[in-house]
Amino acid sequence: MARKISFLNYKGGVGKTSLIVNTAACLAKLGKRVLLFDFDTQSNSSIWLLRLERWNKINASGEGAFFSIFDPGRARVKDLVIKDVVEDKNGQKALPGLDLVPTTFNLVDLESEFEGDPKRPPYVVFQEQLAEIENNYDFILFDCPPNILRASQCGVFVSNEIYVPSNPDALSLIGFTLLVEKLGKFHQLSASFRTASMGVPAQVQGVIFNSIKTGVDIEVPKMRMQLRMNQFRTAKRVAANAKIFDTQIRDAMIVRRAVTLGLPVLLVSQEGPDAAAAGTSDNVVSDYRKLAQEIVRHTP
Ligand SMILES: Nc1ncnc2c1ncn2[C@@H]1O[C@H](COP(=O)(O)OP(=O)(O)OP(=O)(O)O)[C@@H](O)[C@H]1O
Ligand SMILES: [Mg+2]
Repeated sequence: MARKISFLNYKGGVGKTSLIVNTAACLAKLGKRVLLFDFDTQSNSSIWLLRLERWNKINASGEGAFFSIFDPGRARVKDLVIKDVVEDKNGQKALPGLDLVPTTFNLVDLESEFEGDPKRPPYVVFQEQLAEIENNYDFILFDCPPNILRASQCGVFVSNEIYVPSNPDALSLIGFTLLVEKLGKFHQLSASFRTASMGVPAQVQGVIFNSIKTGVDIEVPKMRMQLRMNQFRTAKRVAANAKIFDTQIRDAMIVRRAVTLGLPVLLVSQEGPDAAAAGTSDNVVSDYRKLAQEIVRHTP
C-alpha cells in the first residue's frame, strides 16, 4: 500500500516545496515509485519539475491541471499523471519513477468560486479518484500551501502521515502549533466522510528542520520545538512516536539554483559547473538522501 504523506506548516516559505521535490527525487532514485501532487496555486513544484515552457502550456489551457477534476469536472486524477516528469535539457527522461500531477494558477478558484456539491466536498471526490491509482505507487506526496483550505484538505484527508518542514525560528513554531489546531478541526469536520478502508486520520509524524546555516547554533529553537512536540504527544494531538527528524537540511545555494534549472538537486549535482559553482552541492544532496532514507525507515 502506498504511503501517503502531506508536507505542511502554517508558516510559508519554510521549505515545504524544496523538501518535497528533493525528497521525492531521492525516493525515486532509491527505486521507489513516487507520485507528487502539487496542491499550491503558486504552482512552485509544477514549474520546478516541468520548467516554464511545459508548465505554460498547461496553465494556458487548464487542461491536465489538478483543478480540472472539479471544473469542468470531466478529467479524472488518473488522466492527469505526468509519468517520469523530469526531463534533461534535451527532453530525455532524466529520473524514472517520479510522476507528477501538476497544478496551475486556476487552482485558486477551488477556494472561492467553486461551489460543487455540498454533500461531496472536494476532498471526497479526490479520495475516490486517487483510490483508482494509489496501488501503482510506494509513496504519494502532497505539496501543500501554508493552510488547510480546500486544496490542502485533499492531501490531508487521504494522507496517513504529516511532516512539518520548519526553519529554526519562532514563526515556524507558531506555524506548527496552528497546524496541529487546524488539523484537529479538519479531522472532526471530515470524520463522517471517512470510510473504514482509509484507516485513521493522519497525524503529525515529525518536524524536519530546513535551511540550516553553517555555524549557526540551532539548539535553542530545536529545544523549544521539542518541548512543544512533547506537550502535543502527551495530549495525543500528534502521533505517539512523532519526533524531530534526525536529518536536517543545510542551507545551500544550489537548492535555489536547482529551481531555475528545473531539476531536483540530485540531478544538478551531476552537472559539473553548477555543482562546482554551488560548492556544497554534494553535502546538501547527501542531506536529502539521508532524509529520504529516514522517511523510508519511519513507521507511522
Ligand atoms: N536548504 C535550502 N537552502 C537554500 N535555500 C533554500 C533551502 N530550502 C529552501 N530554500 C529557498 O527558500 C525559499 C522558500 O522555499 P520553498 O518554496 O521550498 O518554501 P515553501 O514552504 O514551499 O513556501 P510556500 O509556503 O510559499 O509554499 C525558496 O526560494 C527556496 O529556494
Ligand atoms: Mg511551497
